[in-house]
Amino acid sequence: MTEFPTLPRDFTFGVASASYQVEGAVTEDGRGRSVWDTFCDRPGAIVGGASGAVACDHYHRHREDVALLEELGVDSYRFSIAWPRILPTGAGAVNEAGLDFYDRLVDELLEAGIAPTATLFHWDTPQALEDLGGWTGREITEHFAAYAGIVGERLGDRVARWVPLNEPNVVTMLGYAIGNHAPGRSLGFEALPVAHHLLLGHGLATQALRAAGCREIGIASNHSPVWPASTSPEDQEAAQVYDNLWNWMFADPVLLGRYPVEGTEQGFPTYRDGDLATIAQPLDWFGINYYNPALIGAPGAGQDSSQLDGAELPPGLPFENRRIEGYQRTDFDWPIVPEGLAQIVRTFRERYGDSLPPVYITESGCSFHDADPVDGHVADPRRVAYHDAHLRAIAAEIADGVDVRGYFAWSATDNFEWAAGYAERFGLVHVDYDTQVRTPKDSYHWYRDLIAHTRANGSPS
Ligand code: GAL
Repeated sequence: MTEFPTLPRDFTFGVASASYQVEGAVTEDGRGRSVWDTFCDRPGAIVGGASGAVACDHYHRHREDVALLEELGVDSYRFSIAWPRILPTGAGAVNEAGLDFYDRLVDELLEAGIAPTATLFHWDTPQALEDLGGWTGREITEHFAAYAGIVGERLGDRVARWVPLNEPNVVTMLGYAIGNHAPGRSLGFEALPVAHHLLLGHGLATQALRAAGCREIGIASNHSPVWPASTSPEDQEAAQVYDNLWNWMFADPVLLGRYPVEGTEQGFPTYRDGDLATIAQPLDWFGINYYNPALIGAPGAGQDSSQLDGAELPPGLPFENRRIEGYQRTDFDWPIVPEGLAQIVRTFRERYGDSLPPVYITESGCSFHDADPVDGHVADPRRVAYHDAHLRAIAAEIADGVDVRGYFAWSATDNFEWAAGYAERFGLVHVDYDTQVRTPKDSYHWYRDLIAHTRANGSPS
């Protein structure tokens, strides 16, 4: 592939990661336990019985990792801060050693000319707070805001962009409704108050960050265009229900200050007047994490089972997730649908109009089971094709007037892929988990060349 997608010269190119997926060192420097440490101990929860206890050992190898990012030439690195490293029990005394780690990382990034984009919550809830109910209760929102304030005070002068929450829909649905992610609760629809508490936590944390002088606050919200399985009223209705649950229940409160189904909040036992206004803090930008669309039909249409992210959905739901056919698939068996990224971005523009701030694609990526490096090389042409196609989809939307400012490839390095353990590899850099040797893949070299090309030949901004 020689031709590159044409993007604006000042387009932000980034890569993303998350604390539990890369850091390891889970018992070092005073870090407390997170729900993911506990969940990984549960027999059968993770493929191969794996955990993030060592992961990519990024905690000790961050200098090497930052050097790889510098060589890659990215404008920004999106990483997450482990709440239990800062506050081992989620509240109370600050663990200075934990804060120092991120302080060093931020300084190293700045020295390398890379703008730090910091996520505050990429799923590693302190276990001590989970023991008190976690995100099913309201109390955690105040603790989250206090944590945001502490980190904001320390790093706000140097972090370029803030992401209070990563993917509240995934935490609600996979963590609390289905239970194939930590904390492994299977509450079904009883999990919905979790959504409200996450969103309220986002609003309160945003206020705390602003009070600490932080700039450029957004969110990294997972979204999928929802495709009805047919034009039948039953399939259309099922798709609408799913669309509200997966997409708009999480974006509408943040951008419009209301739930997509009027009165939803009255069903939440902890709801208080004013919550929606707190949730709808003005944001400087909105981050969309995109992986694939969802094909949704009415239940009982002959599908043996309905799955979400590989987990069986319980029977009795008002919708069914169908398999999308007719597209190439990643080795994680996810369909590759670049036009789905264009579609979701367009839908956001249409749905929110002037209420939509500039958009960043805060994650997009693919898992392929790459072969081991040979002579320092990993050939991953399908990953190159994936990012190329998704960036072309974005380029077309930008040319059409949609304000998309950047793209963060998931992920910088291969890492611990949650319930799938180490079987799935999303990185631009290969990690040998026995030796911790990093090997840039062909996709890394391609991304580096694309960035350099865009700086020199991109469209005027
Ligand atoms: C996202 C998540 C990431 C990463 C990615 C690939 O939902 O934010 O942590 O795992 O999916 O599955």
